[in-house]
Amino acid sequence: MIKKCVFPAAGYGTRFLPATKAMPKEMLPILDKPLIQYGVEEAMAAGMTDIGIITGRSKRAVEDHFDISYELEHQISGTPKEAYLAGIRQIIDKCTFSYTRQIEMRGLGHAILTAQTLVGNEPFGVILADDLCINDSGEGIMQQMVRVYEKYRCSVVAIEEVAADEVHKYGVIDASPLDDNVFKVNGMVEKPSQEEAPSNLAIIGRYILTPEIFDIIRRTPAGKGGELQITDALQTQARENMVLAYRFQGQRFDCGSMPGFVQATNHFYNRLENKDD
Ligand code: G1P
Repeated sequence: MIKKCVFPAAGYGTRFLPATKAMPKEMLPILDKPLIQYGVEEAMAAGMTDIGIITGRSKRAVEDHFDISYELEHQISGTPKEAYLAGIRQIIDKCTFSYTRQIEMRGLGHAILTAQTLVGNEPFGVILADDLCINDSGEGIMQQMVRVYEKYRCSVVAIEEVAADEVHKYGVIDASPLDDNVFKVNGMVEKPSQEEAPSNLAIIGRYILTPEIFDIIRRTPAGKGGELQITDALQTQARENMVLAYRFQGQRFDCGSMPGFVQATNHFYNRLENKDD
């Protein structure tokens, strides 16, 4: 059983400035729920209840969100408003939250390495909260990935087909089909140009990593943008051992971009039953 899930959440969220000047981008709400809560709910549905959050400066609101607010609860206790807090209360009851600070912003690989003290020597999930993933007709994306992990016992990345002119935004894989929606990774490139891209299969923000990844990250040199890239470390792991890519069932919203954020908002709004409440 994988119990731990890491949420890198130290980034500045520059694309949403000034909204993210004093507020973490992970706290931007899609309707009434902050992005990171959707991610934690997905982890919980996959049985991951040890939540490790990699934070940075001005991320206090994330910690406060996953904690009890005594004053607020006292105020609304016994009123119908109590129901609004039921969901988050359940998360707080079922999960434990640990935090560690990423002192310098040196890329996703570096953020994941920072999580080593929280993770130890076990396989773990990684969720990038600004990729909001849902599967209205069945299991959540992380739960689907756990099934792949349980069968093959190696690192797994989630992938999605993207348009050729979008590949430069993602890690892109070179892979051979292995099983239903499962591919064996031969190589991967971080944010390639259209000409360099080995395929249009892009990595999205869901990973299951085996703990060997930490040593590999340590011996990985800085890559694209001068940052320590998890894509480069996974490329090494694919070469030395095995990494799989999983084409998930469901839908992803890139909530790190304005259009994706608005699409997610519309999607959840259209699903609401009582729009007038
Ligand atoms: C990160 C990863 C990239 C991946 C993407 C998914 O990039 O480096 O490989 O495809 O997440 O969202 P970022 O979006 O943080 O630039």
